[in-house]
Amino acid sequence: MARLHIDTVSKTYGADYAVREVSLDIADGEFMVLLGPSGCGKSTLLRMIAGLEQPTSGRIRLDGNDITEAAPQRRDLAMVFQSYALYPHLTVAKNIGFPLRARRRSRAHIAERVAEVARTLELSALLERRPGALSGGQRQRVALARAMVRDPGAFLMDEPLSNLDAKLRSATRAELIALHRRLGATFLYVTHDQVEAMTMATRIALLDAGRVEQVGTPEELYDRPRTAFVAGFLGSPPMNLFPAVVTARDGGLRVLSDGIDADLDITADSGGDTAVLAGIRPERLRLDAAGSAVRGRVRMVENLGSEELVHVVAGAHTLCARLPRPAGVRTGDDVAFRVDPAHIHLFDPASGLRLTWQDAVAPRPAVLVP
Ligand SMILES: Nc1ncnc2c1ncn2[C@@H]1O[C@H](COP(=O)(O)OP(=O)(O)O)[C@@H](O)[C@H]1O
Ligand SMILES: [Mg+2]
Repeated sequence: MARLHIDTVSKTYGADYAVREVSLDIADGEFMVLLGPSGCGKSTLLRMIAGLEQPTSGRIRLDGNDITEAAPQRRDLAMVFQSYALYPHLTVAKNIGFPLRARRRSRAHIAERVAEVARTLELSALLERRPGALSGGQRQRVALARAMVRDPGAFLMDEPLSNLDAKLRSATRAELIALHRRLGATFLYVTHDQVEAMTMATRIALLDAGRVEQVGTPEELYDRPRTAFVAGFLGSPPMNLFPAVVTARDGGLRVLSDGIDADLDITADSGGDTAVLAGIRPERLRLDAAGSAVRGRVRMVENLGSEELVHVVAGAHTLCARLPRPAGVRTGDDVAFRVDPAHIHLFDPASGLRLTWQDAVAPRPAVLVP
């Protein structure tokens, strides 16, 4: 069992925060992915949980026990790094068995565990090879096997797939999902790759500049991003985000901007003229000659094989639509799109926080002048 409780943990280097007041609860058996751009503090957070770094402040608990100051080997956790850090002069079997030899387990016990783990990860035929004679994917599996051999309560993984080519990465992703199901252990997995996060995580913690922006299931983050940062980070191509105004017109609320006039399907006689940051995902724009949500001219069409990305200049904005191929439009064409009102996201332009339409038309509190 491994339940992790991270309580207001910060880490500073000089005056700079690498991790800033992060609180996170990870339930037993979860596959939690720490996701975020390079430099946002993912590795630092993971290394503090592993005991390889000391937090500047805050506490870390494992199954209720405070482990903030415990030595790494005293935590019931196994870490898998981006660089596999295998011993080149040892065979695969010796590499996998290393953590057990370091703990002075019996030879019979070690042999049994190594064989068992090797079977799970399909390494049985490679046990006598040295790491130099393995492919990247096989080395990656050996590193995983070495972490599994102790049967830890939780696995901590720092971008373990980043050295693999695209095909192997996709295959290993599927293996990790299956492994997680089979072991029922807690996985805490660091990546900057949103596809890895979306496909593997039971929950994602999205970090930016050392802070947690949002924690939730992949669907929650994708469908209801809490901030404009989350909205822009998830999705490929990313969500179209543009400054706009929410206003009441002809008895309903609309989102207006240069080249954009989208119905929010909310009855309202008055109110609004509120500045917002509006967001529409590329796959939610639908070609419709009668549509008014977005009107513009096609700047470029990208062929993705099954779909096309149509880049449209609408007033001052360039928006991207993702359409089934062939979309039937060409560079220079005038086009119009509609969008389901439910798929229009609104954010506060100053704080970046998600707005409901009620927020967006609420009168702003008057500023009190003393
Ligand atoms: N040992 C260190 N000394 C100084 N700054 C560090 C050190 N380790 C990490 N940092 C800084 O902390 C921030 C977070 O780094 P890191 O946790 O490695 O990010 P990520 O893994 O998300 O790419 C970065 O700005 C990085 O430069
Ligand atoms: Mg890192």
